[in-house]
Amino acid sequence: MLCVSLTAADLPFAPARHDTALAVEVRLDFFEEDVDAEALRAATAGPLLATFRSRHHFGRGAAADRDGVGLQQRWACLAADFDWIDLELDENNLAEKIRVVQEAGKKVVLSHHSLEAGVDLEPFLKQALATKADIIKIIGTGGSGADFAGQRHLYALAGERPLVHFYMGGDFYASRVLALRYGAPFTFVAKNEKAAVAPGQIGIETMRGLFGDRAGHFQAFAVLGRPIAHSRSPRYHTPALRAINDEALFVPLPGENDGELQQLLATFPELLGAAVTKPLKEAAARLADGYLHPEAGSLGAVNTLLRDGSGWRAANTDYLAMQDILARDVPADAVVRVIGYGGLGKAVVLACRKLGRPVEVTNRSVAKLHDLPDGVTAVPWAERHREGAFALVQATSVGMSPHQDASPLEVIPNGVGLLIETIYNPAETRLMQKAAAAGVRVVDGHVLFEKQAAHQNRLFREALSAESGAD
Ligand SMILES: NC(=O)c1ccc[n+]([C@@H]2O[C@H](COP(=O)([O-])OP(=O)(O)OC[C@H]3O[C@@H](n4cnc5c(N)ncnc54)[C@H](OP(=O)(O)O)[C@@H]3O)[C@@H](O)[C@H]2O)c1
Repeated sequence: MLCVSLTAADLPFAPARHDTALAVEVRLDFFEEDVDAEALRAATAGPLLATFRSRHHFGRGAAADRDGVGLQQRWACLAADFDWIDLELDENNLAEKIRVVQEAGKKVVLSHHSLEAGVDLEPFLKQALATKADIIKIIGTGGSGADFAGQRHLYALAGERPLVHFYMGGDFYASRVLALRYGAPFTFVAKNEKAAVAPGQIGIETMRGLFGDRAGHFQAFAVLGRPIAHSRSPRYHTPALRAINDEALFVPLPGENDGELQQLLATFPELLGAAVTKPLKEAAARLADGYLHPEAGSLGAVNTLLRDGSGWRAANTDYLAMQDILARDVPADAVVRVIGYGGLGKAVVLACRKLGRPVEVTNRSVAKLHDLPDGVTAVPWAERHREGAFALVQATSVGMSPHQDASPLEVIPNGVGLLIETIYNPAETRLMQKAAAAGVRVVDGHVLFEKQAAHQNRLFREALSAESGAD
């Protein structure tokens, strides 16, 4: 079940009127005036939860008001036939308040919030387990990928006791999704993404459409990196995976170093594959046990991991996508000049060599040009505008938002007939504008993005089909 939080700004209240699978939390601490509890009850088909959240539990109410106005309002909701009453773990006379709610035939949601990252939440869970509360709610603040192991640990500790447990923070929204899969009686959602009342809350439609709202078994894929909240990967990959197996789940998981990557992979035995993004591409290469395309092992950066027994097989789908683009758009003998020799530049050079295309490389830092593979021509950065190339592949980060006025080239070199841009934000870079003005054909950064994602999606579908067939 999903639970949407309602504040005064949401009145008059309509969205959940007929939706019995949607619980509604009335955030009494957000209301300036008394709430008409009877009217809300009459307007709501699903369970109603009355909450007066104090400031040190991430609300607006004063702790002292929990026994004053905050308690009166909650008791009014109880009298109006609300289903659940929220109490905070550190309230006065907790056992007595729990008794009042339960004697009225209703349920207690006993809440604790930690507003700082890295807090051990186990003592709070144990304290809550020692009460007679019907539903325990322990909310942390996301700090590192280790929190996802902590989440599983707390669900194991809670056993059969109903527990809602996740971590606030945009990069940690997957924990809200996973809570349901681990058996939470509900998780919080917003009416839509813009109406979120806590960091990391996602909209009802996103939850239902993209992640589902069921408990139980699942087969998972993830995108790993940090920041990760705004990754488009869940939206991109989920529909095709769901078409194969409707228990498939694709979640964003935050990690920024080798240790976190290893821990995230170990936390989820359900993971069949992962997309890897900044800053974990090199860490993923260090962790990989083997490569789908052995020559890609030389790149030192991978963007795809596939479970292979007890280890992980790696792929670099930027490399595969660049082969597609070069094979399609660059004539066999035409010279390719790669601007930038970072992770992506190396993948482009390898793709050229695989296809037998003549290739040159230029890079701002000269040191990177000292160990180019055999047959690859180094072009000093100061000479990057010289003639001699047909195709330019722009593989630096220069011109990316928010620095969209920058360009790695001042002019398009003479003789160039094609620019392949790899930046997709902004959709049209300053360099693309220069190329278009010079009459040069342009392939924009979305083409690479779409093609590498399509290769990834195919690999994930193969993994899921193999696993689903084996079940
Ligand atoms: N479309 C897609 O799907 C896709 C996929 C992957 C990457 N990309 C894009 O590719 C770009 C590079 O990614 P990456 O993974 O290769 O990053 P990376 O390994 O960090 O390499 C960055 C490259 O940019 C160069 N650079 C950075 N600032 C510069 C400056 N001010 N002047 C000149 N050169 C500069 C670096 O040169 P130095 O060695 O001198 O620092 C290096 O060659 C990113 O902008 C990303 O948007 C797109």
